[in-house]
Amino acid sequence: MKKVGIIGFGTIGYQIARSIDKRILSSARLGFIVDSSHGRLEIAKSTLTNDKPQTFSDADSFFHSEEYIDTPIVVESASGVAVRQYARHILSDGKYLIIFSVGELVDDTFMKELESEAVEHTGVIHIPTGAIAGIDAIKSVRNHLDQLTISTTKNPKSLAGAPYFDIYKNIHLHELTDRRVLYEGDVRRAVELFPSNVNVFAALALATGNITKIKVRIIVDPNIQVNRHEIDVKGGFGNLQIVVNNVPHPENPRTSTLAVLSALEAIRSACNETIKIGS
Ligand SMILES: NC(=O)c1ccc[n+]([C@@H]2O[C@H](COP(=O)([O-])OP(=O)(O)OC[C@H]3O[C@@H](n4cnc5c(N)ncnc54)[C@H](O)[C@@H]3O)[C@@H](O)[C@H]2O)c1
Repeated sequence: MKKVGIIGFGTIGYQIARSIDKRILSSARLGFIVDSSHGRLEIAKSTLTNDKPQTFSDADSFFHSEEYIDTPIVVESASGVAVRQYARHILSDGKYLIIFSVGELVDDTFMKELESEAVEHTGVIHIPTGAIAGIDAIKSVRNHLDQLTISTTKNPKSLAGAPYFDIYKNIHLHELTDRRVLYEGDVRRAVELFPSNVNVFAALALATGNITKIKVRIIVDPNIQVNRHEIDVKGGFGNLQIVVNNVPHPENPRTSTLAVLSALEAIRSACNETIKIGS
């Protein structure tokens, strides 16, 4: 049985906590919940009835608590800001850290800092597959690929609020009637323009180990009801075409239902390492 702490009790964090509390993830127990929103912490207190995890709204009280010291696995399911606030400290305490806000990790300097904390203190950084498929195959062929493109198509509801629309003020999402390519280019700029939507680009970039080989495209389509990711990989090994049509999560259209299911699987594998399936 392993204790799991959750930073970010939103769509993903709530589903993880609920699955642990209801013993759907039977090899885990809840250690603590951190969320900057007091309202979310109140929901945690009233809905998690078996484990009754300690709740915290800030880093100071949390890092000094017994619950934190006793909890070996921590899930970040909050935001890029939270990754910057918490990840280095958690890894320097030798914990197993699952990071969902992956966009932050395309900053090479920051990623190297996290990696060296993990190496020095025997911590682990786990980047889950999230809302896509095929990370295992892409990792296997990473030294043999010539080209990798990913096109993501979403409904305007799933893209609303992105910083892109503060720059391109002439694009009014609610007035669009046709499919339109919003962005085409490299991963780092995509992460700046669509931070809540492009974690999958960042996860792919990290899986290949060479961010410059990836070209990304973000498309808005008022007639699509799924979050679609089309991945095309070519190289000396052959080629891969992966298409994922994700149902947006009912509580948060920016997050796919598959991302939530991937989160549960990531916890299961972190808590039970007896059998490993996949490369
Ligand atoms: N890797 C993937 O494939 C993938 C897929 C979907 C979402 N995500 C990312 O995972 C994260 C969580 O997604 P979600 O749908 O659960 O989001 P959400 O908005 O539903 O919930 C986030 C929660 O975290 C809290 N929070 C935000 N910043 C915080 C901070 N600095 N400190 C403490 N609490 C903080 C918020 O109050 C909120 O309750 C997001 O960053 C999202 O972009 C990744």
